[in-house]
Amino acid sequence: MFEIIRKETLAEGIKLFEVAAPEIAKKAEPGQFIILRKDERGERIPLTIADFDRNLGILVLIFQEVGRSTKELGCMEVGDKILDLAGPLGRASEIEEYGRVVCIGGGVGIAPVYPITRALNNADNEVISIIGARSADQLILKDKMAEISHQLYIASDDGTIGQKGFVTDVLAKLLADEVKIDLIVAIGPLPMMQAVSEVSRPFGVKTTVSMNPIMVDGTGMCGACRVAVGDKTKFACVDGPEFDGHKVDWDLAIKRSRMFLAEEKQAIEHSCFGGECQCQKKK
Ligand code: FES
Repeated sequence: MFEIIRKETLAEGIKLFEVAAPEIAKKAEPGQFIILRKDERGERIPLTIADFDRNLGILVLIFQEVGRSTKELGCMEVGDKILDLAGPLGRASEIEEYGRVVCIGGGVGIAPVYPITRALNNADNEVISIIGARSADQLILKDKMAEISHQLYIASDDGTIGQKGFVTDVLAKLLADEVKIDLIVAIGPLPMMQAVSEVSRPFGVKTTVSMNPIMVDGTGMCGACRVAVGDKTKFACVDGPEFDGHKVDWDLAIKRSRMFLAEEKQAIEHSCFGGECQCQKKK
């Protein structure tokens, strides 16, 4: 059992949990993820590790309440215990001295991009970060990203913070201005990562994306997390979650991510979230 020792609401529907998980924190590396199950009836939820403290044995998880399971998770409080937490899973990010790197986080994707950005900064790269959200009140980790970036650009869909538009607009401008970029790391919604990859493709800048498909076992056995990369089928849980954005079959990935939308809608309707949930009403 894994106790929640701190809980914070970062934005509406975006929660941060600090969880006591010393064995996982000890081995965690930027880019890796965990799979958790809230209780015996809980769905398995893969979450990229947002941060970790090896000395204190703490794992930081940040998630958006999008479906029934993440909404139920968001109702847990400090002192509650998560039944299973498996990890760290997946391959760690490749951290090297590349030169100048651009780290892009969209929405809740800023959470997993944070430890990667910090590690790239620590590896003596010049770090330009671009973070974006729908609006100012949905933007998370702005100050933390500023601390570990040489330059920080912000974009919001409605212009309430930073420049009005998308993170890709900022990236396109940097590339058009002939800023030399050695690596781009982008994490966020699939259409955002696809758009980043399409913007960088003509410039030939290596672009790494982190895929977060449906997962079941997280050990390469079930095939639920398959992603087409180049002419190969890869499993995000063991071969990823990071892949070359220029090689990912985005149309297939987006199609697969929508496979269970109807079931998810039904699950919400049949849960207390479709009606009078006391937990949600308190917020
Ligand atoms: S989650 Fe089962 S193979 Fe990846």
